[in-house]
Amino acid sequence: MTKSWQDKLKQWRKQHGDEYARVLLDAPVETTMLKFVPYPGVILLMGERGMGKSVEAHAIAETLHRAQKAPAVLHLPNIPVKTRRNLQALLPEWMKIVERREQWPKGGVIIYDEAAQSAHARRTQSSGAIELDNLIAISRQRRQTIIFISHHSRKLDIGIVHEVDQIHWKQPTYAHQLFEREEIADFSMRAFDFFQDLRGGRPWRECSERLKRLVKSTTIALDMSDFRFVTFKNKLPAYWSEELSCLFQDLSSQESLKKEVVKD
Ligand SMILES: Nc1ncnc2c1ncn2[C@@H]1O[C@H](COP(=O)(O)OP(=O)(O)O)[C@@H](O)[C@H]1O
Ligand SMILES: [Mg+2]
Repeated sequence: MTKSWQDKLKQWRKQHGDEYARVLLDAPVETTMLKFVPYPGVILLMGERGMGKSVEAHAIAETLHRAQKAPAVLHLPNIPVKTRRNLQALLPEWMKIVERREQWPKGGVIIYDEAAQSAHARRTQSSGAIELDNLIAISRQRRQTIIFISHHSRKLDIGIVHEVDQIHWKQPTYAHQLFEREEIADFSMRAFDFFQDLRGGRPWRECSERLKRLVKSTTIALDMSDFRFVTFKNKLPAYWSEELSCLFQDLSSQESLKKEVVKD
């Protein structure tokens, strides 16, 4: 059986204290989304609300559609029919909204936004989580690239965190990074520092609009196969609109409302 990257990481940390430090201290290598993103593969995309996670996921789908003719799906179970229709009308024809995992196309890009909603850590034992685990395992055979989007890893099913090929960060908050799973806490702190540097230490509210756009368009990412940090930029997808952005925001606020109810 091949070792999980956690085991590899632990062993590597023990043997290569200096190298481990270098991974964290070296400046990330600049690359492009097209060169870096795995196809097929599994990406975990994290960062604070409003910092460009959905935009990046859509930019990845658009890039792989252009380069590889990959179809894409937005996995959105249980959304109101009207919202679904409005949303679909704003998306390109190669991107479909689906509700069931059997609808994920071969060779497709799957955007699993706000992954914590259904891949919630507290439900690790549920059949849903096990199913998701299996899906990740077969995604490689089906040549899929799955993008799981979440605020931070603590809320995620451990199965997902352990299976990812890459972790991408849009700007996280300090609080979020404190809640990360132990395995990736150091890396998350690195990502936090990276964005802090990019802002020149300025608080967010004091950043110019231009600087905010730069921050939102920048990603720092860790390749789990060789523990190497890279950075790249992404533009808004050609079909992106304020209307689309608002619909996504509405969806996540509805989801968080539901979550509040469940908590009580
Ligand atoms: N790469 C980018 N370039 C310019 N503006 C961006 C970029 N990424 C995000 N934005 C702006 O930020 C808004 C929020 O981005 P979004 O991806 O919806 O955030 P999140 O999914 O993290 O909550 C977008 O609607 C857009 O106006
Ligand atoms: Mg979003």
